[in-house]
Amino acid sequence: MAENNPFPGENNTGHIWDDNLRELENPPPHWWMMGFWASILFVVGYTILYPSWPVGQEPTPGIMGWSQIKEYEKGLEQVVAMRAQFEDRIGGMTADQIIADPGLKQYAVASAKVLFGDNCSACHGSGGQGNPGYPVLADDDWLYGGKTAKIAETIKGGRQGVMTAHRTILTEAEVDTLANWVVQMSETAGKGGSEEGWNLFKTKGCTACHGQQANGVLAELPNGDIVTIGAANLTDGIWRFEPGGYDSAKHTILNGVNQTGLAETRDAVMPAFGGQGKLSEQDIKKLVVYVHELGGGK
Ligand code: HEC
Ligand code: HEC
Repeated sequence: MAENNPFPGENNTGHIWDDNLRELENPPPHWWMMGFWASILFVVGYTILYPSWPVGQEPTPGIMGWSQIKEYEKGLEQVVAMRAQFEDRIGGMTADQIIADPGLKQYAVASAKVLFGDNCSACHGSGGQGNPGYPVLADDDWLYGGKTAKIAETIKGGRQGVMTAHRTILTEAEVDTLANWVVQMSETAGKGGSEEGWNLFKTKGCTACHGQQANGVLAELPNGDIVTIGAANLTDGIWRFEPGGYDSAKHTILNGVNQTGLAETRDAVMPAFGGQGKLSEQDIKKLVVYVHELGGGK
């Protein structure tokens, strides 16, 4: 064949088409061959060091003893150890002490976010922004007080505001005057309520729960704590029951809150999370810190 080769001396294979189209025998470049052998060496080395060839159920273990599961377990141990430090410290502190410690506070808030999502957000909305019929927690308006002790009391024991139904106590005209007065109060930050409304408010027993100032506060203790039974503040623009306004106020005055046997009454039940089989003391403490911080920290 070589003697028929029309291109003598050339490193072609002797396969020639169309007179001059031929296959040459050029080796790949040197750098390419180096890479080729290096990658084979790498594979051999890798399979000796790390788990690789499947043998039965398990791969060959590799002499380094590394595995993904072991690495995951080590990471998990680190996380648990890191959390244990925080959890131990939180266990021995009050909510106020945790709030005063920026690192611990951050940990408690992050951890409570999950608890809040699982236990509270169905009613209070994620992030505590409230839902129709459920109070907003992410503001500084509190029915029962926003100090940590009050928040803890609320979460552990639950709350159930009670307001008398006035459908048989007041005349229609009195209800109308009071509902208008409530709207005037909410629109003027408590300054513009009619005199007639104030008179009824003070003589029809409303002050027993809503306080003399109609702000829901019955008394203020020397340490700054407020005494309240959870009656709404009627001097701010925040409505406890949707949609707010004249009809809402009238409905509440007529039917009260949590009145048994009265279908139209307002429902306001916050379940208790303390006690057996519910949230642990530790979880409640973290939630107290979380809710306190949602409320702007007052
Ligand atoms: C079934 C619905 C529901 C769930 C679940 C719920 N709450 Fe409440 N929560 C309420 C209602 C209703 C009120 C208002 C009670 C009232 O008006 O007397 C309330 C009141 C509160 C208050 C008092 C607000 C104030 O202004 O004083 C706090 C704090 C609170 N909830 C926190 C929580 C936390 C934390 C969780 C989760 C562990 C939670 N709630 C779960 C319905 C719920
Ligand atoms: C036995 C206590 C009690 C009495 C008496 C009472 N209230 Fe209330 N009232 C409450 C409570 C508690 C709430 C808030 C309910 C809640 O959030 O759980 C409330 C809520 C309201 C609301 C709803 C406010 C809102 O933001 O939606 C209005 C309006 C109101 N009261 C007006 C009155 C008027 C007017 C009187 C007197 C005729 C009166 N209340 C008497 C306890 C009382």
